[in-house]
Amino acid sequence: MREHAFDRRGWLRATIGVIATAIASVLGLVVGGAVVSPGLAGRREAWRPAGRLSDIAPGVPTPITIRVTRQDGYYEAVDQQVVFLVKSQSGGVRALSSTCTHLGCHVSYDADKKVIKCPCHGGTFSPDGRNIAGPPPRPLAELSARVEAGRVFVQL
Ligand code: FES
Repeated sequence: MREHAFDRRGWLRATIGVIATAIASVLGLVVGGAVVSPGLAGRREAWRPAGRLSDIAPGVPTPITIRVTRQDGYYEAVDQQVVFLVKSQSGGVRALSSTCTHLGCHVSYDADKKVIKCPCHGGTFSPDGRNIAGPPPRPLAELSARVEAGRVFVQL
């Protein structure tokens, strides 16, 4: 009689252990998938339209706001990024980030002084993005840009 009670307890413990392991496995898959999948899928760069080349004056950094939509897990994150388009005399175009390379403030173009200025600590960049004064340690980041049928595209 006592032996049967032990067998039932043993069977019950084994069953509970199997059920607990199954629940933990399912939770692990759900939580792990939610954590890992956005990191794998949400950060894809794409060519984004950035206006017409004819609207940009040669040599003048022209700020363009580009709307960037990214899938972030179950959410769609909409971000607006400002880039400077700089058209050369030959008609080529460069795209510069508007994020200061010192501590990440947003820079703007001072047309009177013909420099790109950072409002935070006085960093100064030339119109082609070179760091020329203040604390920024390097030039503004250059983004990939291309022109197709008179329209500018920037990779963000
Ligand atoms: S963040 Fe631009 S100079 Fe410091």
